[in-house]
Amino acid sequence: ALERTFSIIKPDATKRNLTGAITAKFEEAGLRVVASKRIHLTKAQAGVFYAVHKERPFYDELCEFMSSEPIVVQVLEGENAIAKNREVMGATNPAEAADGTIRKEFALSIGENSVHGSDAPETAKEEIAYFFSGLELVG
Ligand code: CMP
Repeated sequence: ALERTFSIIKPDATKRNLTGAITAKFEEAGLRVVASKRIHLTKAQAGVFYAVHKERPFYDELCEFMSSEPIVVQVLEGENAIAKNREVMGATNPAEAADGTIRKEFALSIGENSVHGSDAPETAKEEIAYFFSGLELVG
């Protein structure tokens, strides 16, 4: 089915000027960018986005990192967009990511792993709504 998923190009990637290279990987996989903006989160805003990880030992480091530099938030649309996006990203830990994936090519570590993507339809819906209004989604 035609789906939408939410994607973040993280600070380690925007800093290294990889926004275009990463977006090209999504487009080559058949995903369409239907919304995109560059923003700089506060640590508190990052904390709300990642609230599900609040009890994890890496939560504070994660929120510091995600607010350290600008990010690019995008909505990607396509057939099975959630699974397809996860396939293109590769495993969370770049050491475990398959050849040709974004994290294999670009990620620096499990924390500085260049991209985030929604893991399920319900989270995609919530994550899109946190960053975008309906008017900003142009399919
Ligand atoms: P993401 O898909 O953005 O969702 C949660 C993030 O937490 C994850 O990608 C990783 O970047 C980060 N993360 C997971 N495990 C660790 C870890 N052990 N240390 C630092 N960050 C982590």
